[in-house]
Amino acid sequence: MQPLEGKVILLTGVSGGIGKPVTNLLLKLGAQVIGVDIANPDSVTDLLEHPKFNYHQLDLAQAGNIEELMDLVSKDVPDSLVALAGIVVSGELARQSSSDVERVINLNLTSQINLSKSIISLWLKKNIEGNIVFVSSWVDHVPWPGITPYAASKAGLVALCRGIAREYARNGIRANLISPGIVDVGMAAKQWREEPDYKARASRAIPLGRLQQPEEVAEGIAFLLASQSQYMTGSNLLIDGGASLYPLDPEEVDKR
Ligand SMILES: NC(=O)c1ccc[n+]([C@@H]2O[C@H](COP(=O)([O-])OP(=O)(O)OC[C@H]3O[C@@H](n4cnc5c(N)ncnc54)[C@H](O)[C@@H]3O)[C@@H](O)[C@H]2O)c1
Repeated sequence: MQPLEGKVILLTGVSGGIGKPVTNLLLKLGAQVIGVDIANPDSVTDLLEHPKFNYHQLDLAQAGNIEELMDLVSKDVPDSLVALAGIVVSGELARQSSSDVERVINLNLTSQINLSKSIISLWLKKNIEGNIVFVSSWVDHVPWPGITPYAASKAGLVALCRGIAREYARNGIRANLISPGIVDVGMAAKQWREEPDYKARASRAIPLGRLQQPEEVAEGIAFLLASQSQYMTGSNLLIDGGASLYPLDPEEVDKR
């Protein structure tokens, strides 16, 4: 039997750079995946062919949509939530607009509070011992210039996860986080290949010296969903190639 056979997983951010490899792995491991994203269904055409995948297009930043989503899944209630959808706006803090800050906090933190609150209340009603995996980042505790509101949203997610873990452990509900490093998708992948300055700065920050493959994030998420992690709750699984180790600059290490 596959490790995730029988599980019904609600996965947000499904059409993103990390979302697709995560979906592919969860399906391969036998799970049923209910994918959610703001993106057009065309972005997940390949996944829609899978008999254990279905898709809801919605904007999670609108609280009303989360209630609608709960209605949609209330017949076949998911036993797990992977809250992957998130955005980053880059730029020095003083130059970020208040609407950019609001967008980041709204999706990365407020929507996650609303989503977890709604699914937990469904689980409590149906006596389901649910499992939540939040997706934070190594920057939830290490400053990386230019993404301060994002880092603050991820640090808030740590508090949210630990609060849920403590509050609902007695109901058999678990919540953990995964904190990836710098993943080889989207902007980071482009900058790594096209901007030598970025590559130099990022490779100095990653002791293992390479970007993280999204499949390596997917493996961590699958572990937190599987029975091997059944004694974990409130944990933050850091898989970052050593990015959060100090000192950041290997030249300093060479001076030892
Ligand atoms: N890429 C990295 O280096 C990295 C590192 C650490 C953590 N993370 C985290 O991993 C997660 C996924 O990142 P990614 O690199 O795949 O990003 P991505 O931009 O490729 O994917 C994010 C997905 O979220 C969706 N989304 C955006 N706004 C939404 C909304 N309002 N409602 C519903 N869906 C919405 C997007 O359409 C997209 O499919 C994020 O939470 C991110 O913070 C990424």
